Amino acid sequence: MNTYISSKKPSIALTGCLRAPGDKSISHRALILGALASGMTEITGLLEGEDILHTAGAMRAFGATINHIGAGHWRVTGCGDKGFSAPKTPIDFGNAGTGARLIMGAAAPYNLNIDYLGDASLSARPMGRVLVPLREMGAQFSDGNDKLPLSQIKRGKRSLDGALTPISYAPEHASAQVKSCILLAGLGTQGKTEIHEKRLTRDHTENMLEAFGVKVIRKPISDGQNVSLEGPALLKATTIKVPGDPSSAAFLIAAALMVPGSDITIENVMMNPTRTGLFEVLTEMGAFLRTDNFRRSGGETIADIHVKHSKLIGVNVPAARVPSMVDEYPILAVIAASAKGTTRLHGLAELRVKESDRLSATKQLLTLNGVNAEISGDSLIIDGGPIAGGGHVPTYHDHRIAMSALILGLGAQSPVSIDDAAMINTSFPTFFELMTSIGAPINTPS
Ligand code: S3P
Repeated sequence: MNTYISSKKPSIALTGCLRAPGDKSISHRALILGALASGMTEITGLLEGEDILHTAGAMRAFGATINHIGAGHWRVTGCGDKGFSAPKTPIDFGNAGTGARLIMGAAAPYNLNIDYLGDASLSARPMGRVLVPLREMGAQFSDGNDKLPLSQIKRGKRSLDGALTPISYAPEHASAQVKSCILLAGLGTQGKTEIHEKRLTRDHTENMLEAFGVKVIRKPISDGQNVSLEGPALLKATTIKVPGDPSSAAFLIAAALMVPGSDITIENVMMNPTRTGLFEVLTEMGAFLRTDNFRRSGGETIADIHVKHSKLIGVNVPAARVPSMVDEYPILAVIAASAKGTTRLHGLAELRVKESDRLSATKQLLTLNGVNAEISGDSLIIDGGPIAGGGHVPTYHDHRIAMSALILGLGAQSPVSIDDAAMINTSFPTFFELMTSIGAPINTPS
C-alpha cells in the first residue's frame, strides 16, 4: 500500500486562528549566546525542531547546562568566564546549516580539538565560506574539501595559545550565517572585528548580542552595512522571548491564499524588515494580507497577520529582495504557479546551496505537477494558472521543498504526494497539526 504523505484540494475553505511556531534563526542564537554568557538565560517560545535540538546538544557538549522546563521553555546556564570546554564526542549539527556555521564561529576562539559532523545534506554544503575568515583569524581546521565532517585543531598546549586576531572582512555572499559566524568569533579576539555587508542580511545576531550586553556598531551603507564589535566581550545572561517564524508562517499564508474562501489569522509573527520580503511581494501580487496588533517582544517587532484567499497576478522579483526572503522562494514559486500571468524570480544562485539544490528542486516540484517553469541562469520563471497536480515530488531531504509540495496539492486539481516528510520536523514540528486545525486535507505521517 502507498504510505506516502499527500495533500489534496479541500472541499471547504481553510479557517482559523493560529500561532506561528518559534523562529528558527532566533532559537539557534538564543541557545548559543546563552551558552557563551555568564549566568542563567531564560528562553520562552523556543522552536523545538530537530535543528534546534542539535544546537542544544552541541551547547551541552561544550559545557553549558541546558534544562528543558516545559513546552518552549528552556534555561541555559552559560560557560561565562570559563569558556567552552573540549567536547567528549563529535558535535553533530544534523541538517542545520545555521547551527553549523554559527557554532563553528562561537567555538573558534577556544583552543580545543573539536570534531564536527552533519547529515548527508549538510555534509554536501559549502563550509569554506566560514572556514576562510576563521582561518584568517588564526583558527585551524582539518584540510580537505571544506565540507563536513571536519575538525577544529588545537593551536598549542595551553588554552591561550594562538589567540584569534580580529579581522575586517567583506563576505563574498550575502549571508547572515557568515556574518554571525565572524561576529561570534570576534567576541574572543582582542580588538575590532568588522564585517562589510554589500546587502543587509537578517540582523538577529546583532540584536541579540546587544540584548546580552555587547556593544555592536552598525553603519548603514547603500543597500548594506558595516557592522563591528570589540573583543574580548563577555555576554551577560538575559531573558529571550522567541517571536514566531515568518518563514514558517509563509506556508500557512500560502495555503490560505490558494484555497478559495479561506480566511485565517496567524498570531505572533516576527516583522523584522530583514525577514519580510515575501509579505511585500505577496502584497504586490494582490494578496489580502493585513498586519495588525504590532508590538515589541524579545527585542523584535511582532504582529498578527490576517490573510484571505486572493486572486493573484504574476510579478518580477528583483535579486535585491533575496536576503529578506531567501528561504521563501520555494513557497513563493508555488503561490506564483496559481497566480495569473508570469512570475520571474531573479538572483537565486544561493538557493543552489541550501538544504538541497532548491532552485532545481523547486522547478522540478512545479513541472511534475503540470506547471510550466524554467530556469534561466539564476532566475526561475513560472507561468501561473490552474494547477493540474498529480505529481509525486522528490524532496531531497529538504523541509521547505516537502512543505511547499504539500501546499501546492491544496491548490491543485489532483492530489500531490511527497517521498519523505521526516525533514519537516527540522523547522516546523507542528506543521501537520496546524494544517489539520485549519481544515487542510493533508494526511499525517504515522
Ligand atoms: C539563516 C540565514 C540564511 C537562511 C537560513 C537561516 C540564519 O542562510 O537561509 O535558513 O539564521 O542566519 P544564509 O546565511 O546562508 O543565507
